[in-house]
Amino acid sequence: MKKSFIILILIVMLLPIVGTTSAQDMSFTLRGFASRNDIYIGAAAWTHHLDDPAHREILAREFNMFTPEHEAKFCMISTGRGEYDFSRFDELVEFAEENDMVIHGHTLIWHSCSPDWVENADFSREEAIEVLREHITTVVTRYQGRILYWDVVNEAFDDGEYRDTAWLRMIGEDYIELAFQFAHEADPDALLLYNDYGAETMNAKSDAIYEMAADFVERDIPIHGIGMQSHFDLPRINTASIVENMERIGELGLEVQFTEVDVKYVGETTPEVLQQQAREYYRLLETCLDADNCTAFIVWGVSDRYTWLREADFFNNPTVGPLLFTDDYQPKPAYFAMMDLLARRVGATSILPDDEIEAILGGPSNDSDLPEPVMSNSDQLAPDSVAGVAYYAPLGVEITLDGDLSDWENIPRVVVDTGTQLPDGNDTSFEFAVAVGETHLYFMANVTDSSIVYGTYGVGEWYREDSVEFYLNTTGDLGKTAYEAGIVQIGMLAENVTGPAEPLVGGSNSGSANVSVSAVETDTGYIIEASVPLQNDVWDITPEHMGVLGFQTHLNGSSSDDRDTKLIWSAADTQDQSWSDPSLFGQLIFWDSTQ
Ligand code: XIL
Repeated sequence: MKKSFIILILIVMLLPIVGTTSAQDMSFTLRGFASRNDIYIGAAAWTHHLDDPAHREILAREFNMFTPEHEAKFCMISTGRGEYDFSRFDELVEFAEENDMVIHGHTLIWHSCSPDWVENADFSREEAIEVLREHITTVVTRYQGRILYWDVVNEAFDDGEYRDTAWLRMIGEDYIELAFQFAHEADPDALLLYNDYGAETMNAKSDAIYEMAADFVERDIPIHGIGMQSHFDLPRINTASIVENMERIGELGLEVQFTEVDVKYVGETTPEVLQQQAREYYRLLETCLDADNCTAFIVWGVSDRYTWLREADFFNNPTVGPLLFTDDYQPKPAYFAMMDLLARRVGATSILPDDEIEAILGGPSNDSDLPEPVMSNSDQLAPDSVAGVAYYAPLGVEITLDGDLSDWENIPRVVVDTGTQLPDGNDTSFEFAVAVGETHLYFMANVTDSSIVYGTYGVGEWYREDSVEFYLNTTGDLGKTAYEAGIVQIGMLAENVTGPAEPLVGGSNSGSANVSVSAVETDTGYIIEASVPLQNDVWDITPEHMGVLGFQTHLNGSSSDDRDTKLIWSAADTQDQSWSDPSLFGQLIFWDSTQ
């Protein structure tokens, strides 16, 4: 750990714990700097977290907003129709009030936590509306004036459609607006939010939510904002698309809050991973600070020890650390990065030295300057690749797709034997090469794998069995963070060794690439050769010297049934996210050996 982190931990640990808002909010803490930035910084918790003195102390010291993580939901407080047990909810509200934290109520209606007597009911529409009214009125009235924000309805959409829930079946789509109306009647001063996940960026789900919110605003249905849960994965959050979504919501006159932030990752908790995580917390907080209508940034827990992602029903990973504090309550780089951002924004002080912030914000990227090309062997048709970053593909090479590698002679080969998953003792690896001819781009993978597994999942879930993927971004913009026309993931099943009439291929936009595939079994595994035309409906690739495409290649390995191996070439993709984020590809650079 860097010395400045250690000093900071000492400062934070030695801070006096004081009881008044003003003293707390002037202090050297997240909440201190957040209130000076005029936003709420919140955290979610259960009552049993409050029994842990360290947890309790951090909550009160660092956060000025509080969200009940689970114990305010309908299934947790209902003991029968019209009957409630509010004891744990009350305990949370009292804790927040004692510590001058604004309360963000979560949540009145959520399909995942309706009591059985609702979930299994067969009420008429009128009766179901009455049940909805009773519940919302009882809860919102009880805490009237004490809960500033309410997540009125949570997760009512499934992609671009209304989610199939008991409420939808019994009442119809207007159960959502009825819920907002009932909440408003019970506490006209409460600010009412619609909350969901996977709708942070511009996509079908956020479009549907936006349409609903616009319609509510138009018809004066009381809604005040949209909660974006923000359960994210490393490596990189598409903040540009989030900004676009926040802006359109802002144009409706509505607030936005990041309501359940955590940033998870797979694999070991290394210093690099913690640094990347810090970068993502920083970037997300920055988008909130930059937006006029973003009023809160709430983390979904305090210590990694209690993250919901360790629960068996969810990510079920006992070591994942998505939050700001470690299992033993040490602040992580993400905590310091957020505090640094908040502090600098108000011109208070810097928390981390400039070079540490730069290192955090840097991280792996595919746009770094490349070294001068090197030709380590004079027979080569193109320079050596730059490991995990750039591959030089020779121009003017014609390949026959026949499993015979003699026409790949003198074309640089790259071995890929690392990735995000490789079981101990597993012998799988592959070497690949790329070449470009008059009309086609060719890709070859020579896979070492002692047991070829196919036929269980087929093209529907091609990535779960042996398969090789290559990816191209032909748009000219390697920074694109979402798939669009001209960006493809081509996943070729090992099952192609059976010589099917049509190539067995899957992956995002793969249908648009017009790929041809040939595969053969070898003594050590299998070879896949493929070609795509340089011109098709979605791209027009010019085979010119030093022309650049985005490029990535990946292997899915299965030793018995389901995939247990993932080997990845591009160094920018440390988390197997190229299937959703093309900015993680490396570069494919065309090379004319006659120039
Ligand atoms: C989760 C809690 O974090 C868990 O502890 C609990 O077991 C289940 O609910 N989206 C939401 C939250 O809106 O209410 C969920 O909270 C996490 C996903």
